[in-house]
Amino acid sequence: MEVIICSTDGEVGEKAAATVANKVRQAQASGRKAVIGVATGSSPLSTYTALQQLIDRGELDLSQAYAFALDEYVGLPAGHPESYCEVIRKTVTEPLNMIPAQVNVPNGNAEKLDQAGADYEKAIAAAGGVDIQILGIGSNGHIGFNEPISSLSSRTRVVKLTEQTRQDNARFFDSLDDVPGYALTQGLGTILDARACVLVAQGAGKAAAVKALVEGPVSAMCPASVLQWHENATIVVDEAAAANLELADYYRAQASH
Ligand code: F6R
Repeated sequence: MEVIICSTDGEVGEKAAATVANKVRQAQASGRKAVIGVATGSSPLSTYTALQQLIDRGELDLSQAYAFALDEYVGLPAGHPESYCEVIRKTVTEPLNMIPAQVNVPNGNAEKLDQAGADYEKAIAAAGGVDIQILGIGSNGHIGFNEPISSLSSRTRVVKLTEQTRQDNARFFDSLDDVPGYALTQGLGTILDARACVLVAQGAGKAAAVKALVEGPVSAMCPASVLQWHENATIVVDEAAAANLELADYYRAQASH
């Protein structure tokens, strides 16, 4: 695991985008269309902005790439502005100039959600697997919507959201009651299958989760800690999110080499 500590959100975005761009170029150099895993929420927005800047400068091309979102709420009507389908369209597909038909989001309105989960796994595999997975982290340590005690080898499936997560996400809705109770999410096993992962976290509200992710035991109580098993995981945080890290100086020294 590599930990990069940044002084601003803009720098978090730039470092994460550089990691993404690197993996995309590697895939393209080997003659494949790159496959990126994308997250929603506030955390990756600066990464998407930095990716857009790379594209604008002609240093990155995602126009042929595939994307797979981590998750989707269950039961939000199609076109709802907070459905992840819409959020991904606005924050990823359009600004990064991607082909809409190549950008995938789990179908949270499928009649058979189990089947939709299995189909999503097949679609990721058919695209060649994810080259680089962008992740945020919940204040309770979730990645995707894999809430505490998710199986460390789980696959795409329906999960019940914790009250903590519903409260954290209430800021996107008119009221807490409007936040859906369930989501269809890639599993931890699905995420681990990505060739590389980059997780971004900003702000003091993430400090405890980042500490557990990086320096805690691998435990289903902090689902993100499963990234300790991944051979190519980069964690990019700001100073506030890094505040509880015991070995912060060591990570800084490593990063400067
Ligand atoms: C979003 C996702 C979640 C978020 C996490 C942090 O697709 O999978 O794990 O990354 O809840 O959300 P923000 O970034 O809004 O704090």
